Amino acid sequence: MERTMRTPIIAGNWKLNKTVSEAIALTTALKASVVDVNGVEIIVAPPFTALAAVSDVITDSNIRLSAQDVYSEDSGAFTGEVSAPMLKDVGCDYVIIGHSERRQYFGETNESVNQKVKAALAHGLKPIICVGELLEEREAGRTEAVIEDHVTGGIASLAAAELLSCVIAYEPVWAIGTGKTATPDQAQEVHNFIRGLLAKLSSAEVASQIRIQYGGSVKPENASELMAQPDVDGALVGGASLEAESFAQIVKFDS
Ligand code: PGA
Repeated sequence: MERTMRTPIIAGNWKLNKTVSEAIALTTALKASVVDVNGVEIIVAPPFTALAAVSDVITDSNIRLSAQDVYSEDSGAFTGEVSAPMLKDVGCDYVIIGHSERRQYFGETNESVNQKVKAALAHGLKPIICVGELLEEREAGRTEAVIEDHVTGGIASLAAAELLSCVIAYEPVWAIGTGKTATPDQAQEVHNFIRGLLAKLSSAEVASQIRIQYGGSVKPENASELMAQPDVDGALVGGASLEAESFAQIVKFDS
């Protein structure tokens, strides 16, 4: 299936940034900047505390809401956690799962990622499953082994229909927040590897339909050349999503 059959998906991961009032201001400005954009799925992922306010701002707009994490249980004695039904209730369509910062600093594993993915899907949330190698893993020639481990573990025992609701985000850890973007060729190579892996793990048809985002220092200056790669279907944007103008320019990568 041609890339043209996969709707481009550009998501802004705000990480630990923005108070409620700042989030409202950013989203209001973004909404105005992207009002005429068609054919690109636009997503913002504010921190939990700003989800409700941002959800109000984007009602009836072309912007969709994502959370940055979710817990695998629906409710109960799990102090500090937020569940999939809660995220659905506040207006989320997507949830980022297994971001490298969660793997590095908060003990996220392939197993916990897989449980969270299943919880999200059970409540109609679309998981954005993050995978990516560390610099030392790339330098040791282990990129494909690490990606295979993350993808295989993250999507373990999902049905084909469930897989079709997932987005994979390839984020080389050495490119996140460092200003060192993967070259378009490096991104394409790994995206192509992931698509081949999905064909093996599921089917060629599923593999051809799943969207694979690139993340790691995506900016207005490099978005179009990354998006021009045949297997790059979108971007997961950190730093450059914190200002409406730069994120809107990335969303308009093909204009
Ligand atoms: P960055 O972050 O764009 O600031 O590199 C990307 C991400 O971590 O999703």
